[in-house]
Amino acid sequence: MPSLVSLVGAAICAAVATASFNSNLNYNSPSPRHVRLGIDIPLVYRRAWKRANNAYDPSELSFTHGVSSGDPWDNSVILWTRIAPTNESDQSNAAVEGTVPLYSHETETYIQADANPICVEWKVFEERKGRPSDRVVSRGKAYTTSDIDFTVKVEANGLRAFTTYFYQFSVCGSENKSPVGRTKTAPGRNDRVDEITFAVFSCGNYPSGYFNVYGNAARKDNHDYVVHLGDYIYENKAGGERAHRPASLLFTLHDYRTRHGQYRTDPDLQLLAQRFAWISTWDDHEIANNGYRDGFSALNNTEESFLNDGPQISVDSRKVNAVRAYFEWMPIRQVDLDDNLRIWRSFKMGKLLDLVILDTRNYDRSITSLGWNDHYIDLIRDDPSRTLMGGRQESWFYNTLSESKERGATWRIIGNQIIFSRIFQNDKGGMSGDNWNGYISNRNRTLKHLYDHNIGNNIFLAGDSHQNWVSDLAWLGTKDYNMKTGEGAVGVEFAGTAVSSTGQSGPIEPKAGDYSRGMIARNEEMMWQEGYYRGYFQLGVTAKKIEAQFYGSPSVATRNAWEIPLANFTVVSGENHLARPVAGGKAESGALKFGEVSHSNFTLNTETGQWQVIGFEKMYL
Ligand SMILES: *[C@@H]1O[C@H](CO)[C@@H](O)[C@H](O)[C@H]1NC(C)=O
Ligand SMILES: *[C@@H]1O[C@H](CO)[C@@H](O)[C@H](O)[C@H]1NC(C)=O
Ligand SMILES: *[C@@H]1O[C@H](CO)[C@@H](O)[C@H](O)[C@H]1NC(C)=O
Ligand SMILES: *[C@@H]1O[C@H](CO)[C@@H](O)[C@H](O)[C@H]1NC(C)=O
Ligand SMILES: *[C@@H]1O[C@H](CO)[C@@H](O)[C@H](O)[C@H]1NC(C)=O
Repeated sequence: MPSLVSLVGAAICAAVATASFNSNLNYNSPSPRHVRLGIDIPLVYRRAWKRANNAYDPSELSFTHGVSSGDPWDNSVILWTRIAPTNESDQSNAAVEGTVPLYSHETETYIQADANPICVEWKVFEERKGRPSDRVVSRGKAYTTSDIDFTVKVEANGLRAFTTYFYQFSVCGSENKSPVGRTKTAPGRNDRVDEITFAVFSCGNYPSGYFNVYGNAARKDNHDYVVHLGDYIYENKAGGERAHRPASLLFTLHDYRTRHGQYRTDPDLQLLAQRFAWISTWDDHEIANNGYRDGFSALNNTEESFLNDGPQISVDSRKVNAVRAYFEWMPIRQVDLDDNLRIWRSFKMGKLLDLVILDTRNYDRSITSLGWNDHYIDLIRDDPSRTLMGGRQESWFYNTLSESKERGATWRIIGNQIIFSRIFQNDKGGMSGDNWNGYISNRNRTLKHLYDHNIGNNIFLAGDSHQNWVSDLAWLGTKDYNMKTGEGAVGVEFAGTAVSSTGQSGPIEPKAGDYSRGMIARNEEMMWQEGYYRGYFQLGVTAKKIEAQFYGSPSVATRNAWEIPLANFTVVSGENHLARPVAGGKAESGALKFGEVSHSNFTLNTETGQWQVIGFEKMYL
C-alpha cells in the first residue's frame, strides 16, 4: 500500500503533467470542444501514466522539421517544433473515448494512438549584438505524443514589445536540442515605431519549383515579419524531381500531415521559418482546389460524389483533417475555441497599422467557380446574398476597419487571399468567378463601408493568382476616379506572384508582355501587371508612406539565390493611391501604365527564337 507521502507526490506530479500537456496548444487544436478537432488531454495523460516505464530514450528522438514562430503580439509569440522518434507523420488519430479512431485506407485497419509522452523544455533568450545572449526571459515545459503528430506549439509570454528574441527547445533532462530560432514581438497598440517591414508570400507549390524566394528573403534579412497569404501547401499529386508525398491527392489526416512534413523539409522554407515570425492565413490548397463553404472543384458535397464515385470521404471530414493538420504544423494561434474554422484575426501594430487577416476561402464562402458551373457563376456573381466571408466575419471586418480608424492607426493593411480589384480578363468583359469578381456585392459593401465612413490609407494584399497586379483601389462605376492622378481611390492593392507555382508559360516575350499590356489597357485602375517571374514583395511601412518592392526569381528549376528587382511603388499617407509617376515610370518586366518596361534581363535567343532571362548575379548566398 502506498504511503500518504507518495500519494501526495503522485497527485502533484499529475497536476504538473496535465498542465504541461495543456501548455502544448496542439492538444486543443484548433478546439477541444469538437471531438475530431481536439484531443482529450486527461485520456492522453492516463494512457501516458500507465506507460510511464516505456518512455523514449532522448537519443532515439530528433527535432525532425526545424523550428518556427508566429502570430506575434506585444508580449508573446507562438513557438513551434516537432520532436519525434521518426520523420514520418503519425498514423494515429485521437483515440478519444466514445468516438471511433481514425480508419486507415492504406492498411484497412483502425489505428491506435501511441501514447508515450515526450517532454520538451523551451527557452527564450534575449538578443545581444544579433546573437542569443545567456539571459533567459521566458521558459516552459510541454509534452507531445503521436496524437498530435509529435508537434509542439507553445505560447512564450512575458516578452517586451517590438523586440527580437532567440529560442530553443530541448528534450527534458538531455543535451538533445533543436536548432536556435529567432523571432520578434509586435509593437504595443499605442506604441509609436518608425517603421515596420513585411515580406509577403503566397503559392509555394513544392513540385513546381524550388523555394528560392523563401531562401532569398531569409538571407537578405531585411524585414521584421513574414506574411503568408496561403497556398502554403498544395493537395494535389505530382511527380518529378520534387514529387509530392504522399504520392496521392490528400484526404486523410495522415495525408495532410505527411504533406506539411514534406514542405517543412525544404531548407529554404525552414530557414525563413527559423528566422522570422510568420503571420499566415490559408487559401484553397491547404484544403483542396477552389474550395468554398460546401465543397471543392473536385469533390461535391453529395453522397454520390464521395461514397460511390469518389474517395469515400465527405467534404466535412476532409476539411476537418486538413484544418487539424494545419493547426498542428503552423505557428498560428487559435482565435476562438468555439469557432473551429476561424483563422480571421487582426494585429494592432502600434499607432502605425492594423494588419487584418481574412479568410475569404474556407470559412463561409458561397459557391465559387468549380470548372463545370462557370455559366451559373456568371448569372449570380451580382447576387447580393453572395458572400466571401459569411455574415459573422463580414461584420467583424467592417467593425475592425472602423475601429482601426477610430483608434488612430495610420494604415489598414488587409491580408487576403484573392484579388480584390475589378479585372476584365478579356475584351468581352469576362471576369474570374473565383476571386472578388465573383462576389461583386461583397466587394461593393466593402468599398461602401470605406467610402461612407471616410476610411483611408487602405492597402489590400493578395496572392492566389501566381502573377503580380498593382492597382489603385477605386470603386469604378460609383465613385469618380482619375487614372492619371489616382484621385478618387481609397487605397491600393498589391497582389503578388507565386513562390513557385506556375505563371505565364511559353516564350517570355512577346506573349506574356502582350497579356500584361492587354490587362492594363482594359482596366483603368490597374497600373502594373506582370506574370513571368516567381517572387515576393516587401512592404516598408512608416507614418509618412509605404514603399513596396517587388522581386523576381529568374528560375525555380534549380535551387539558386538569384534575384531581380522588378518594380518599386510608393503610397504617400493620405493620398490613397499609388504615387505618380507610378513605379517611378520604370519596371523591369510586364506592363506599366504611363511608364516604361526595360526588360534589361531579357534577351532573344537567336537559335531558339525565344526570349530568355540573362545577366542575373548570385546574391545573398
Ligand atoms: C530525417 O530527416 C532528417 C532531416 O531532414 C534527415 O537528416 C534524416 O536523414 C532523416 N532520417 C530518415 C531516417 O530518413
Ligand atoms: C459535381 O457535380 C457536377 C454537377 O452535377 C458535375 O458536373 C461534376 O462533374 C461533379 N464533380 C465531381 C468531382 O464529382
Ligand atoms: C456594385 O457596384 C457597381 C459599380 O457601382 C455597380 O455597377 C453594381 O451594380 C453593384 N453591384 C451590386 C451587386 O451591388
Ligand atoms: C527598387 O528599389 C531597390 C532598393 O532600393 C533597388 O535596388 C532597385 O533597383 C529598385 N528597382 C527598380 C526596378 O527600380
Ligand atoms: C539583370 O539583373 C541583375 C540582378 O538584379 C542586375 O544586376 C543586372 O544589371 C540586370 N541586367 C543585365 C543586363 O544584366
